[in-house]
Amino acid sequence: MPSPVTIVEIGEHEGQTVTIRGWLYNLRESGKLLFPQFRDGSGVIQGVVPKSAVAPEVFDAIKNLTQESSVIVEGKVRADKRAPGGYELDVSGIQVVQRVSENDPYPISLKEHGVDFLMEHRHLWMRTPRQAAILRVRAEIIKACRDFFDEHGFTLTDPPILTPAACEGTSTLFPVDYFEEQAYLTQSGQLYIEATAMALGKVYSFGPTFRAEKSKTRRHLTEFWMVEPEVAYAELDDLMDLAEGLISFLVKRCLDRRRTDLQTMGRDLAKVEKIVAPFPRIPYDEAVKMLQEAHAAGKLEHKFDWGGDLGSPDETYISSQFDKPVMVHRYPARVKAFYMEPDPQRPELALCVDVLAPEGYGEIIGGSQRMASYDLLVQRIRAHGLPEEAFKWYLDLRKYGSVPHGGFGMGIERVVAWICGLEHVRESIPFARTLHRLYP
Ligand code: 4AD
Ligand code: MG
Repeated sequence: MPSPVTIVEIGEHEGQTVTIRGWLYNLRESGKLLFPQFRDGSGVIQGVVPKSAVAPEVFDAIKNLTQESSVIVEGKVRADKRAPGGYELDVSGIQVVQRVSENDPYPISLKEHGVDFLMEHRHLWMRTPRQAAILRVRAEIIKACRDFFDEHGFTLTDPPILTPAACEGTSTLFPVDYFEEQAYLTQSGQLYIEATAMALGKVYSFGPTFRAEKSKTRRHLTEFWMVEPEVAYAELDDLMDLAEGLISFLVKRCLDRRRTDLQTMGRDLAKVEKIVAPFPRIPYDEAVKMLQEAHAAGKLEHKFDWGGDLGSPDETYISSQFDKPVMVHRYPARVKAFYMEPDPQRPELALCVDVLAPEGYGEIIGGSQRMASYDLLVQRIRAHGLPEEAFKWYLDLRKYGSVPHGGFGMGIERVVAWICGLEHVRESIPFARTLHRLYP
């Protein structure tokens, strides 16, 4: 057999006889013609098998194939404008690696299935072209995040995952027994990368983070991946510039390199193409005004009072008013985390920003300037009832050359869900962990 090629690069082999190693995705029959569709992880290609043109055992082997049987196929690549990928394969030989038994057929047929059933079979569901395309876009976004920071002078520094204290509020901590001591899975690497930023200037971390979220919404996972930049001497406006630069870069990268995948999932590309900097920046006060006007006009159920945090419906409303991500800055300090720097003009506000993705996707980035004063930070740690002892090292950063600094965290699954236009974040990660799901 000729040396194997992948379906995504099949165009380079037009007119040649090639080998593809993959699985049977679908099989159609029309009289003495078989149309098997093969997938190999990189794409799907349709084969054409006329009874008259192949050896009888090849024809019979293909005719008897069951969905998801693994096969090694030999055939000649032929350009065909009507074919989805632009090419078809005139099959000449086949080796069946493992034939799926009809007594125990592949559970996910090509008809519609309910999402609970699909999530139960996530290990198999990810083989369908749409799901595979989403995972390729996810990988592209992760790579693009790394490229963006690596190319902008940031150093990757990995924070620990086992931590002794909370970063983002004590109500969503996952406890771990650490040799009879109480530890937790990290909610964010931020506190640790504040330390690495003081050592290296511009840093980022990229890893799994955990929240014991009781929220059952389309945007909450209990385990998710976060990319977090942290920059010494950065102020709030610098952070907004950085967020804007990062998001525009990610979108452009997906449009450049993953256009076919986005088309496979039926994404409206016109909406994605609009995501070009600059993005609107609105103070919290203005966001509140928008929400109150929407309530008065009967577009929002709840009346939003100044001083509260934006809930999911509020974010959905605000973000659906723009066709670009919107940056809402300067929230009331009391609804935000303990470490945020107060606005010197209005100390009741925090120098923070949430970036809300358009089309109702809501928050994809949360960040802030960090409190630089030792005394104020001690006060806040006490006021939040946090264990001072566990934050001793963190307070050191304010004793030894404290500087204005800040950063943000971007949840990868939420960005993937938005760029791919998914209904729920559960499809944006290979194996989603949510309030009621720890399987498969
Ligand atoms: O806004 P958050 O909680 O901010 C922090 O953790 C900061 N310490 C980050 C920093 O400044 N370095 O989380 C940041 C982002 C959110 O905007 C969201 O995209 C994502 O993480 N996120 C979640 N994604 C999925 N499921 C959840 N339960 C999430 N919680 C936060
Ligand atoms: Mg947040």
